[in-house]
Amino acid sequence: MLAVLGGSGLTELAPLTVTRKQIARTPYGEPSGPITVGRLNGVEVMFLARHGYGHTLAPHEVNYRANLWALKDKGARRIISVCSVGGIDARFGPGSIVLPTQLIDYTWGRSATFFEGAEQAVVHVDFTHPYCAQTRRLILDSAVEAGVPVVEGATYAATQGPRLETAAEVDRLERDGAHLIGMTGMPEAVLARELELPYAAIAVVVNAAAGRGESAGGISQEAMGPILRESMQRVIRILECVAPRAARANPSPKGATP
Ligand code: HPA
Repeated sequence: MLAVLGGSGLTELAPLTVTRKQIARTPYGEPSGPITVGRLNGVEVMFLARHGYGHTLAPHEVNYRANLWALKDKGARRIISVCSVGGIDARFGPGSIVLPTQLIDYTWGRSATFFEGAEQAVVHVDFTHPYCAQTRRLILDSAVEAGVPVVEGATYAATQGPRLETAAEVDRLERDGAHLIGMTGMPEAVLARELELPYAAIAVVVNAAAGRGESAGGISQEAMGPILRESMQRVIRILECVAPRAARANPSPKGATP
């Protein structure tokens, strides 16, 4: 089953006809909330709000391990993450929908592996290509079907937050090769990989990164809301087309096609 992990602006999947809500307990504690299962465009899909249904969990407070574990345990076989980001690159202005192909992790102090503890053998999972190309293909084909422009190919910088960046930090991220900045992309992506769940992200640009474009003098939180709401409507149209496509596709082995 396809699972959608919703971020800011997507705390529920409005067109989902809900059939059940499942409370999940995991060896890693509680996920961000109950897992909603329902039908989207005739196909069974799961949904989990990453920040909790009341949007109370900051990026560093999210129990990523519990979320991923719970989704897999309840039958998820592929994950699409929806996240809001700041755009470093002028090509990715507010309202752009971007499918990242690479990431750089700047987060710290988050539980970022299932392979730890006395009972666990150490595993160094391959993460050369952090996002699943097959899942991106499904999203791209669906975006064409939905008539929603989407750009593929960007490097996502995962920052710790919850504060936004300084202009100098954004300059550094750009020098590092990053095009987008978000706070929740890691360790989510690597935990999905460890569980061999194909994972791709739909990044919605809600602001120019600090010091760039219209954020030269600071990031306006007021401007973000309408962009987020409008963009999520487009994302939902894509997801409605993804659901039946994902149901027809066989998930790639080991959770990735490079
Ligand atoms: N930086 C980090 N995370 C974000 C941003 C940003 O500018 N916008 C939305 N999420």
